[in-house]
Amino acid sequence: MKFSAADLAAYERDGYVFFPELFTPDEIRALTERVPTIFAMDRPEVVREKASGVVRTAFAAQHYDDAFARLARHPNLIEPAKQILDGDVYMHQFKINAKAAFDGEQWQWHQDYGTWLNDDEMPAPRALNVAIFLDDVTEFNGALMFVPRSHKAGALDAGHDLQTTSYPLWTIDHPTIARLVAEGGLVSPKGKAGSVMFFHCNIVHASPGNLSPFNRNIVYLSLNACENAIRNFKRPDYIAHRDFAPIVALGDDALRSTEVAR
Ligand code: SIN
Ligand code: MN
Repeated sequence: MKFSAADLAAYERDGYVFFPELFTPDEIRALTERVPTIFAMDRPEVVREKASGVVRTAFAAQHYDDAFARLARHPNLIEPAKQILDGDVYMHQFKINAKAAFDGEQWQWHQDYGTWLNDDEMPAPRALNVAIFLDDVTEFNGALMFVPRSHKAGALDAGHDLQTTSYPLWTIDHPTIARLVAEGGLVSPKGKAGSVMFFHCNIVHASPGNLSPFNRNIVYLSLNACENAIRNFKRPDYIAHRDFAPIVALGDDALRSTEVAR
């Protein structure tokens, strides 16, 4: 897939573009059937919620699972990222965020670039996220909230929150969030499994806990321009990757073939 001129303009204006049901149920099944095995792994990449012990995030699954390795090189994700970032891209981070039924906890208000700047010394906000819904995302199971156009505010002041959840995050104070929401409003894209959202690394976002009986697994590819590689390697490489080589996209059948992509 390529972005149209209208898609590119919407991304520049709003900081995100949402594509409902971009992947078919069969393509998504190739991924979801792998998730229980990944979440059962006892390895540092698999981070658990403090309170309940259920999985919060599984980092770098593209390095140890073939189906996720194929997703990480899917042309529907890589080609638009190259258009948006105007050049070759590499994978800065890859994670499956499980917001488990009943126990999945919040993600505080933040910009992803805040963490990538403060922790990884990423030179410029020339990076983006692609979210791929593995489950239906509804108003009940912890859908993300975004402040449209907040990516234009640049990198905002952030404090390092090591307490609120089981994953340290550079978070933004409430008066700033209130001001940005007064200007830009809020959106919360929801949709069936297979829906995909591209969003700017400076768009402000958060998500509440999941009190529903429905899991909410979402995969995130964080793609960075190869020319914008990080300079500080203090975080483990399964969180902030060090392979800055351009990603070569697979064919359109990437999730329908069994070819090994790693
Ligand atoms: C994120 O902000 O990076 C993840 C939030 C979520 O998965 O709900
Ligand atoms: Mn984020």
